[in-house]
Amino acid sequence: MQFTILIIDDEKNIREGLGAALELDGYTVKLAENGRAGLALIEKGDVDLVITDLRMPEASGEEVLAKVSAESPGIPVIVLTGHGSIDSAVDAMRNGAYDFLTKPLSLDRLALIVKRALQGRELVLQHRQLQEELRERKSFESIVGRNAEMQKIFQIVRRAADSKASLLITGESGVGKELVADALHNLSPRRDKPLIKVHCAALSESLLESELFGHEKGAFTGAAARKRGRFELANGGTLFLDEIGEINQNVQIKILRVLQDKRFERVGGEETLEADVRIVAATNRDLKKEIEAGRFREDLYYRLNVVQIHLPPLRERRDDIPLLVTAFLNETAAENGKKIDGIDARARSALYKYPWPGNIRELRNCIESAVVMCEGHIITADDLPPGIAESGGAEAVAVPANIPLEEAEKIIIMQSLAFNKGNKSKTAEALGIGRKTLHRKLAEYGVTLTGNVRVL
Ligand SMILES: Nc1ncnc2c1ncn2[C@@H]1O[C@H](COP(=O)(O)OP(=O)(O)OP(=O)(O)O)[C@@H](O)[C@H]1O
Ligand SMILES: [Mg+2]
Repeated sequence: MQFTILIIDDEKNIREGLGAALELDGYTVKLAENGRAGLALIEKGDVDLVITDLRMPEASGEEVLAKVSAESPGIPVIVLTGHGSIDSAVDAMRNGAYDFLTKPLSLDRLALIVKRALQGRELVLQHRQLQEELRERKSFESIVGRNAEMQKIFQIVRRAADSKASLLITGESGVGKELVADALHNLSPRRDKPLIKVHCAALSESLLESELFGHEKGAFTGAAARKRGRFELANGGTLFLDEIGEINQNVQIKILRVLQDKRFERVGGEETLEADVRIVAATNRDLKKEIEAGRFREDLYYRLNVVQIHLPPLRERRDDIPLLVTAFLNETAAENGKKIDGIDARARSALYKYPWPGNIRELRNCIESAVVMCEGHIITADDLPPGIAESGGAEAVAVPANIPLEEAEKIIIMQSLAFNKGNKSKTAEALGIGRKTLHRKLAEYGVTLTGNVRVL
């Protein structure tokens, strides 16, 4: 991220000297010779950090600090004080300054303070940016996803929504199949009619049949009154058949019949009923295999599968993780009455690397538990459930911008080697390169390792 630092000081030498030093460190620098000019630049926007002298003509450093604290609390202010005026520095800290430096200035100390202040600023900005993106994305129901594959899926759902075609949603557990079914219904012309859901795996064969089609009074022991089935209840709307791969052949035939001629009878009933129902089915099984194994009817499969949507597992769309994390942070922090400002680099890296076998459901649970565990306002790796925190590995590697690629590669390789305690096989595997390649590169760097030696 390219940061802009504003330096306000009436002494030309200090202003320009600091400016030149910070420019050399890669920052964009703006200069102002008094508080008023400085405030005008801050108001224009894109200032990330302010370094200001205290005593100046036309709006003092105290006034700058007061204005920034009140109007742009996210911008850190570092105060410069004359030698021996420690009282004013203390006052400034009390009024919200990030830190202070006494003159004559130590450039090393300044560089350190600036770096630390901007790291905090970066967290705040990243969080803010994701929040904004999230607000835009909300337009597609509550489904979060900017991954290209997910965008294609949203497109299909939008197009399919208008028609009556049956939809089959496949994908592992926790990928959001039910959410897609909700979205399809809410985008369709049937949105004002019922969306009825049946969890097929939860019901025994006979119960499922009477749930779906209803029963007449006395149809079986315990059928004390006539009961309308889900097909009847969903008339004019949508019927979501979850875990369709679990239903037996007998019920499969009956569903096929409704799909073909829209007709059915209640269990124990003579009367033939009609239902105008759109079917959305979901499964985490491979129905093609179920057909081969003789457990699922091929004709039903083709009836259900007019439009198919396959939701990829989360590990195949990791680019959505940051946005999902922010969405779940917002939700669960609000639910738990907490204020969370972001996630630190190590925790973020762990969340990004973990394989998420339970997909989005697991991610949501993980964030909720982290929010509950978190004692401050920033989630750290220690707040994550065990097993997930470890996957983050080492501290995120800081690679300076604008350095030759080869140098960046070296930093990453050495860091990974250090993290894996000098174990070359693990390092090669983690980096996705062959052991031979790793050896060659280490030889190029002049690094020799015998056994598990600590490097760095
Ligand atoms: N893209 C997404 N954006 C936001 N939340 C999501 C997304 N996908 C899934 N979720 C959330 O993850 C959880 C699991 O989603 P859902 O119940 O739709 O999964 P599923 O595929 O039906 O899982 P299962 O096969 O186990 O029934 C829910 O809390 C849902 O709100
Ligand atoms: Mg489900």
